[in-house]
Amino acid sequence: MLEFKNVSKIYNGNKKAVDHVNFNVDEGELVVLLGPSGCGKTTLLRMVNQLESITEGDIHLNNKSVKESNKIEMRRKIGYVIQSNGLFPNMTIEKNVMIVPDLLGWDRKKQLDRFNYLMELIGLHPDEYRKRYPHELSGGQQQRVGVARALAADPPVMLMDEPFGALDPIIRTKIQDEFLQIQKEIKKTILFVSHDIDEAVKMGDKIALFRDGQLQQYNHPFEILHRPANEFVSEFVGQDRVLKSTSLYSVKDLVDSVSLTGYQKAGSVQTVQEDTSLRIVISKLLNQEAEQLAVEDTKGKIKGILTLDLVEKFLYKQIKETPKRTG
Ligand SMILES: Nc1ncnc2c1ncn2[C@@H]1O[C@H](COP(=O)(O)OP(=O)(O)O)[C@@H](O)[C@H]1O
Ligand SMILES: [Mg+2]
Repeated sequence: MLEFKNVSKIYNGNKKAVDHVNFNVDEGELVVLLGPSGCGKTTLLRMVNQLESITEGDIHLNNKSVKESNKIEMRRKIGYVIQSNGLFPNMTIEKNVMIVPDLLGWDRKKQLDRFNYLMELIGLHPDEYRKRYPHELSGGQQQRVGVARALAADPPVMLMDEPFGALDPIIRTKIQDEFLQIQKEIKKTILFVSHDIDEAVKMGDKIALFRDGQLQQYNHPFEILHRPANEFVSEFVGQDRVLKSTSLYSVKDLVDSVSLTGYQKAGSVQTVQEDTSLRIVISKLLNQEAEQLAVEDTKGKIKGILTLDLVEKFLYKQIKETPKRTG
């Protein structure tokens, strides 16, 4: 779907901002471009929609070089979301969201339906926000509208440059969760820039980790966490990488892999749902909120008891059993 072929970028004949980068992105995948500030993430992203030229190498979108595509047409087919949402302050929310469909000459009815659909998708009531201006929305709401605008003409590809980076941590977590839900429905091919390993692990089907313009490792989050390709990756990922990997699993994954301790009805035990993230379970167990937790299935039936020992057993199994994947 998207192929980076030996891509380099040199600004003004100076040092390489992007240095011989090779990787492919499959259709419907969300790939996080990760790395410290200045490692070339934004540059790489902007070469895809040709906001930056490619110095050397090429990028293919659906087997066609982006250099040979008509820039204006291509940008309409690629959704672009940036950190400072980029909404036009003097245009209503509806006008902002419908910029590209308007340019494409969609009729009024089609635009209205699309606007209503997108606003519902991002969790804002269409009629309540239609005539408002960006400054009349909170930062989180503006960022959601930025996402809706990028999705407006249903582009197959989305480029998102630290889209939630300016939001405070609680709002950011909420928007990340919402966006993952949306992605389940829309299944876009997405390049998502981040400098935050936690965000990358949470959002990415795969992570491409960069240093000084060079790709260090490209693989599933689990692989990056557990099999760092070199010392830089290992350091970037940090000490608590096993703990980080727990956000990749739910209680259900654990139940499917190791057997729970039997449940005796003596005393009261806190319950957790099967769809709870293992990371949340661990923080409950580690914070002494509970020594054990009763696992409840969707019908409210208790399946057994979960303890820290079992979590440990499960993680150990994952690390040992996950076959080495190359990507
Ligand atoms: N327009 C530009 N002109 C010259 N150098 C640039 C320009 N944009 C970015 N750079 C340089 O290219 C490198 C990569 O920048 P960037 O892609 O913005 O990194 P990131 O998004 O990972 O923070 C940095 O050294 C930056 O200073
Ligand atoms: Mg950047």
